[in-house]
Amino acid sequence: MKIRAVTLNAVGGPVQVENLELAQPLSGEVLVAMGAAGICHSDQHAISGHHGAEIPCVLGHEGAGEVVAIGPAVERVRVGDRVALNWIPSCGNCFYCSRNQKHLCSEGLQRIWSGYLQDGTSRISRDGQPIMHYCGISTWADHMVVSEASCQRIPDAVPFEVAALIGCGVATGVGAAVHRGELSEGDSVAVIGAGGVGLSAIMGARMSGAERIIAVDRQPDKAQLAMDLGATEFLVADDGAINKVLDATNGVGVDVVIEAVGNPGLQESWLQAVRRGGTLVCVGIPNESEATHILTADFIRSEKSIKGSYYAAADSAKAIDDLCVAYLDGYLPIDKLISKRVPITEVQQGLDSMLAGTEGRTVIKFD
Ligand SMILES: NC(=O)c1ccc[n+]([C@@H]2O[C@H](COP(=O)([O-])OP(=O)(O)OC[C@H]3O[C@@H](n4cnc5c(N)ncnc54)[C@H](O)[C@@H]3O)[C@@H](O)[C@H]2O)c1
Ligand SMILES: [Zn+2]
Ligand SMILES: [Zn+2]
Repeated sequence: MKIRAVTLNAVGGPVQVENLELAQPLSGEVLVAMGAAGICHSDQHAISGHHGAEIPCVLGHEGAGEVVAIGPAVERVRVGDRVALNWIPSCGNCFYCSRNQKHLCSEGLQRIWSGYLQDGTSRISRDGQPIMHYCGISTWADHMVVSEASCQRIPDAVPFEVAALIGCGVATGVGAAVHRGELSEGDSVAVIGAGGVGLSAIMGARMSGAERIIAVDRQPDKAQLAMDLGATEFLVADDGAINKVLDATNGVGVDVVIEAVGNPGLQESWLQAVRRGGTLVCVGIPNESEATHILTADFIRSEKSIKGSYYAAADSAKAIDDLCVAYLDGYLPIDKLISKRVPITEVQQGLDSMLAGTEGRTVIKFD
């Protein structure tokens, strides 16, 4: 079948909206009619070359839609199911899966970066030449073939645009706050970067009962959105922001800092705002060739922890289920996180406004 999709053909971009050929789903695969797809900064890292990706590819790794066809030997999913797409489906058998760290699944990670589906081939082509599946789910397309393992059924009451964001930004931000920050009742946290991931960390902090939630962004316009999603204070990211956090906590610092930009300079400097015994959670991902330097003597003497946080920081399939329930129960105001909707032809506008730092999350709509 013919599809309309956003491709990356060269590092540096620009992305292109093209008509491509999509083959029917093979064994264990399904065809999804995409309802909505989110624009995450990780797609931008693939475009800029800061993170490696197999190209040419169809981009996008936040998406949700309806299953419209299934291949042979599909067991978990049926035609008509509404699904959110999971970019690290776990194998259930590897070292990490057997230790309940399914989001670190060796097989899942190998597969998403390979550019192919599970059997090592692609279903997408242009003039007979294969095009790669970014993160195994390539959601910036009106239709896509994915592994059934990537499909997580969602309740009817969860809109596709909400489910799409649950598939990466929301799961990632909430996971950083809840599982890696281990925030609980009465805690204090500073979240650096109020984009899709940082704002989701703010929602996660709020849901965990954190008392003081300080949002920090270089874009002053983000203040209202951050407060609407659960921040108790907002600071503009300037040279004085760290001292303001220290002053506001009598020089002690906050229990947890969550860096949600992906900037080594911010990771380094914001460690100062973590209280002794507290935790810096790094969830923003820098350019793969950049290093972060820390003063280890102070780090050791102050018994701080630095933790990486990847995807949901827990079983991503279960996280998608749980986050749908939390949304329906009113704990996660994800509708407010969606600040812009664009048709697929205007994907570049969505990317530009993300780079300007003015949006919560931009969603591509396919209806
Ligand atoms: N760990 C994971 O599994 C995972 C998953 C998804 C995304 N990410 C990464 O998380 C990061 C954030 O993603 P996103 O989609 O929220 O991006 P985004 O572009 O939506 O948000 C980034 C925010 O940071 C702000 N910002 C930029 N520079 C800043 C600075 N110096 N100080 C303070 N604020 C600053 C921007 O104004 C913007 O609001 C990216 O690096 C992305 O690749 C990681
Ligand atoms: Zn993402
Ligand atoms: Zn595994």
